[in-house]
Amino acid sequence: MSSALEVFKTGLMDDRTVFITGGGSGIGRGICDILGGLGARIFIASRNPEKLRTAVQELDANGVTADFMTVDVRDYQQVEAAIGQCAKRFGGIDILINNAAGNFNCPTAELSPNGWKTVIDIDLNGTFFCCKAAYPHLKESEHARIISITTTLGRSGWPQAAHAGAAKAGIQSLTNALAVEWAPDGILVNSVSPGPIAGTVGVDKLYVKTGQEELMTSRVALRRFGRVEDIAGAVAFLCSPAGDYVTGAELVADGGRQWTFASAS
Ligand code: NAP
Ligand code: COA
Repeated sequence: MSSALEVFKTGLMDDRTVFITGGGSGIGRGICDILGGLGARIFIASRNPEKLRTAVQELDANGVTADFMTVDVRDYQQVEAAIGQCAKRFGGIDILINNAAGNFNCPTAELSPNGWKTVIDIDLNGTFFCCKAAYPHLKESEHARIISITTTLGRSGWPQAAHAGAAKAGIQSLTNALAVEWAPDGILVNSVSPGPIAGTVGVDKLYVKTGQEELMTSRVALRRFGRVEDIAGAVAFLCSPAGDYVTGAELVADGGRQWTFASAS
């Protein structure tokens, strides 16, 4: 299996600290493996302590320096405390990965105001909270990056998940604004948009459990779901010196799904 670890130089991320939300599972966990494998220190923030503890133990077993704090990204004070703890523990923050998200399929006419608010709070407000709290630390770094995990369904609109689509579109807008506002501080701000990634909660909940796996695979130009490593590799590229002139971009790693969708309708 191809991996960014075979592409990038060993130790490329030595002395860099990554603060990642939702890094205990799925795509976030894969990002921890790759950036940690390249030498970065990893600090994971999310709600479930068992998941976090297991992830940190596994990273540790692979020689990665890692720590965690339980955080609900909907609470700014919790976010600020975790960012502060990470900076104190590891001496700063170089890379912020906004990966935490919540989602579920629901026709918009049936979506409750709190259902809408819950997803906007986790995805969009949580991303803003992390960016704001991390900013004073990132601007001290010589390799500062913010990378948010979004989806092209934010741009197109997301029928049955309008809440998540709107939140992801908002994150891209925030990404573009911060790319300009924080460029003088040397902070590069980008997003990575995965297609459907096999074995993740997102795909399981939205496509497998709803019997749409085959249909959704047929809507990917490459005719397969992606791997967590495919997304972690895109993130590693943006964090590497190869990404030094990239800011305000959406790096789409979706097997060509966005255009297959467009031509299918
Ligand atoms: P996942 O494993 O469920 O990851 C989401 C993470 O977010 C979990 O580890 C969860 O950890 C954390 N989280 C949820 N609510 C939180 C909250 N209120 N505060 C703090 N952490 C919270 O799902 P995934 O599929 O890997 O998704 C990762 C990212 O990729 C998301 O941004 C998603 O929108 C994006 N994405 C995924 C796909 C896909 O095919 N899977 C496609 C496009 C985009 P706790 O339970 O510990 O809180
Ligand atoms: N359909 C319709 N509404 C739903 C729903 C569904 N499948 N799941 C939750 N909701 C609504 C709830 O009814 C509630 O609204 P209400 O108070 O008006 O009844 C609101 O959303 C909040 O639900 P709750 O279960 O209290 O939220 P939570 O904070 O415990 O969990 C979720 C947040 C709902 C996003 C949960 O799915 C989660 O934690 N997800 C994280 C993992 C994930 O989604 N990964 C995939 C990323 S792509």
